[in-house]
Amino acid sequence: MRRIKIKNFVMPYFIVHGSGRAEPIAAMPGQFRFSVDELVKELITTIGLGITSVLLFGIPASKDPLGSEAYDDNGIIPQAVRAVKKYFPQIKVITDICLCEFTSHGHCGVLADNETVKIDAAKTLELYAKTAVANARAGADMVAPSGMMKKQVAAIRRALDNSELKKVKIMGYSAKYASAFYGPFREAANSAPVFGDRTGYQMDPAASYQAAIKEIAADIAEGADIVMVKPALAYLDVIREVKRRFKKPLAAYNVSGEYSMLKAAAANGWVDEKEAVWEIMTALTRAGADIIITYYAKELAKLLKI
Ligand code: PBG
Repeated sequence: MRRIKIKNFVMPYFIVHGSGRAEPIAAMPGQFRFSVDELVKELITTIGLGITSVLLFGIPASKDPLGSEAYDDNGIIPQAVRAVKKYFPQIKVITDICLCEFTSHGHCGVLADNETVKIDAAKTLELYAKTAVANARAGADMVAPSGMMKKQVAAIRRALDNSELKKVKIMGYSAKYASAFYGPFREAANSAPVFGDRTGYQMDPAASYQAAIKEIAADIAEGADIVMVKPALAYLDVIREVKRRFKKPLAAYNVSGEYSMLKAAAANGWVDEKEAVWEIMTALTRAGADIIITYYAKELAKLLKI
């Protein structure tokens, strides 16, 4: 049995414009939206606990149909990456590449007519590539495309290579399901679709694991350095199967709903939170996750130190 190690955990953060801001996220007790200066302060504790990687999500100053702030060199994410790398060059910074936090309609790509959920694939890939290059130029070590658009990893790899950013790695959100467990995240990032849903691009939770295998194989063929299954808990079978078939490092994303569900039960005194967190992380590790992305990373680091 492999043991859980804190260096394999990734702590996600939501970043907002401004300064001195640490806004509690109602649907995710214990999590905050940080302005860049507050993120830097927060990371002193995080790094002190032994966490070595963070995943950044941005909340823009304003939204538009093309999600312009996502690929702006002075957008919220490039600003955050530059600050983190300036103070903590040793920390691995991963940025989420998607448009849903930045678009006025809340979809993960560019819409063909802005009224129906018909994605303009070519334009979307172009903007994902621009976003990845903007984040990488700011100093991101790794980019993580989460939009579930076909060929997104290939488009980003090509753009990074053409911009002399060959060293920047890609973590594909390879098998990402259209899940109810993203609810709290959409409140945190204000990224719920204004109309329609994400079933046109994210995977059907009822699909057989073969569908996930296909997605994983495609991401690897396109150049992904790390592959991912998301959410984690309802997809342990998929994690296991992916681990059995592929040699690439495998990440499992213990998503917002999985976090908030346990927080709510713990707040009511219905479960022993520490025991439950440990049990969940052990299960993900046993299933085959090499890397675990979780809002519990800091709490877990404290637990493992005891
Ligand atoms: C962006 C994105 C989402 C999550 C990660 N990247 C939201 C979504 O797909 O709706 C969810 C993470 C979580 O719930 O913790 N596309």
